[in-house]
Amino acid sequence: MTSSDIRKEFLAFFTERGHAIVPSSSLLPDDPSVLLTTAGMQQFKKYYTGEADALKDFGSLSAASCQKSFRTSDIEEVGDESHLTFFEMLGNFSFGGYFKKESIAWAHEFITKVIGVPISYVTIFEGSATVPKDEESRKIWHNLGVTDIREEGMDDVFWGPTGTSGPCGPTTEIYCRNAQGNDIEIWNIVFNQFFCDGSREALMSGDAHLAPLETSGIDTGMGLERLAMISQQTRTIFETDLFSNSVDALPASMDARSKRIVADHARGMCFLISDGVRPSNKERGYILRRLMRRIIVMEHGAGDQRINLVKDIIPLIVGQYHSVYPDLHIDVIFDEWDKEKAKFLKTLKNGLKELEKISVIDDAAAFKLYESYGLPYEIIKEMGGRRAAHLGHAGFQEEFRKHQEISRAGVEKKFGGHGLLLDTGELKASDERELAVVTRLHTATHLLQQALRDVLGGEVKQAGSDITAERARFDFSFHRKVTPDELRSVEERVNEVVAQDLPMRFIEIPLEEAQKTGALFFFHEKYPEKVKVYFAGNTLDEAYSKEFCGGPHVTHTGQIGRVTIIKEEACSAGVRRIRAVVSAPIDGQAV
Ligand code: ALA
Repeated sequence: MTSSDIRKEFLAFFTERGHAIVPSSSLLPDDPSVLLTTAGMQQFKKYYTGEADALKDFGSLSAASCQKSFRTSDIEEVGDESHLTFFEMLGNFSFGGYFKKESIAWAHEFITKVIGVPISYVTIFEGSATVPKDEESRKIWHNLGVTDIREEGMDDVFWGPTGTSGPCGPTTEIYCRNAQGNDIEIWNIVFNQFFCDGSREALMSGDAHLAPLETSGIDTGMGLERLAMISQQTRTIFETDLFSNSVDALPASMDARSKRIVADHARGMCFLISDGVRPSNKERGYILRRLMRRIIVMEHGAGDQRINLVKDIIPLIVGQYHSVYPDLHIDVIFDEWDKEKAKFLKTLKNGLKELEKISVIDDAAAFKLYESYGLPYEIIKEMGGRRAAHLGHAGFQEEFRKHQEISRAGVEKKFGGHGLLLDTGELKASDERELAVVTRLHTATHLLQQALRDVLGGEVKQAGSDITAERARFDFSFHRKVTPDELRSVEERVNEVVAQDLPMRFIEIPLEEAQKTGALFFFHEKYPEKVKVYFAGNTLDEAYSKEFCGGPHVTHTGQIGRVTIIKEEACSAGVRRIRAVVSAPIDGQAV
């Protein structure tokens, strides 16, 4: 079956079985504790917990989707036969409707009848101290004629939660054989039975607790690419119709691994850009930058005459996916690609020259290359070859953290010293008067972000902020122009909070605890073990806004003065920019 047939057949199969078909959500999730959408269930979290009503929203307790997903956890594996960053996840979901019997029987029928391949084996949960062994699933599989049923533990067959808390539960997985004779995992069926009050890491270390969900649910996920590999009986994912065009268009002289990396990263880049991510040094922007820079390095390695190899690939990718994902805009992708490439090529040459001079590339040397030349970790590891054999991701991250601590200390010193010259990157002030103004504007942007989320919804996430004594510039992800009415309500809300003169305070608490407060933060930033959460309100619980932040802020929102939005414009696709000023401040100084 072609991949497009598989998509259609999957959704038709579940439509026939009473499921509402729900479109893929964006790669930028609604949940501030998660960086990117990694699974189909993310947009449905609230239906499992009972916060939202599926019957009301979908007219059914069952839904199915084909979800754009992106996992950074596999990024270092990309280049082998089956790992990817971006992928499409087929899934069927039940929110208190059907449970184990139907979901297993349907998965069995879909794989063996519709796709028409045998199941090699399945796994079930072996049980733990808190969750019993899944005998029920074993019986169901057995009655369907599956004989190879393997028991596995928490690490492999217990899914979730995504983010800092959420639904989770034991799973059963289906394995099928590929053309190389290897059994690969095709489908993961999760029995959402619990609500976990902490992250997955906390759950695994015993620091989080499980409570039964009121209504049990089903959450399944099946990678379209892997399924295509099984259906089309190819040896690797890259030989399926989802990738073969791109891979074949790459120069024959390129090695197979590099071709796969370019094909994967180019596709991931197209989808990230189209959902509004822009290359930067933070969070999602950093992930995108890594993908782009790695392709650029490979282009570089392939020689100058092939410097346009991605331009040859992007049109193929957009052409292939455009009918399913009309948000893919080739002009925007080209534009971002050209800008990032021009920026990176300048430093790349120098960086690689420097790298060649180092005989042993350890963590510290690698971090220096990153810091001085912008060479990402993967590129140093790759181009360093044997000289970087002992370079590890953990050590590199540790260097990164040390460096952040040093620069943070630098900022504090400047701020606490007599010069009062402040430059946190985000805030800039050259004297005391300016410092007072940027401090007010800074608190104003916290209120602004919350007000934007109130009016426009959770899609709004800070994408950048730049504050000088003249104005605050605040960039945020949002897919369309903000209407004048919406802007007025945002401004009104902010000024209401100013008028309430709420205290602006912070608490300094352990990172994990801070993440549970619901405060907004940049997921990918490496925070120290203890972080400050600034909140506007009498208590953290009832605060109007909460964010991880280093300050400085006013002590009461009334000190901000009146906030006026002077401009709203597109910053780049999927990102809007607001300029705001404050006036009539407490010291009577007009700004
Ligand atoms: N949410 C489950 C997964 O992503 C189905 O594997």
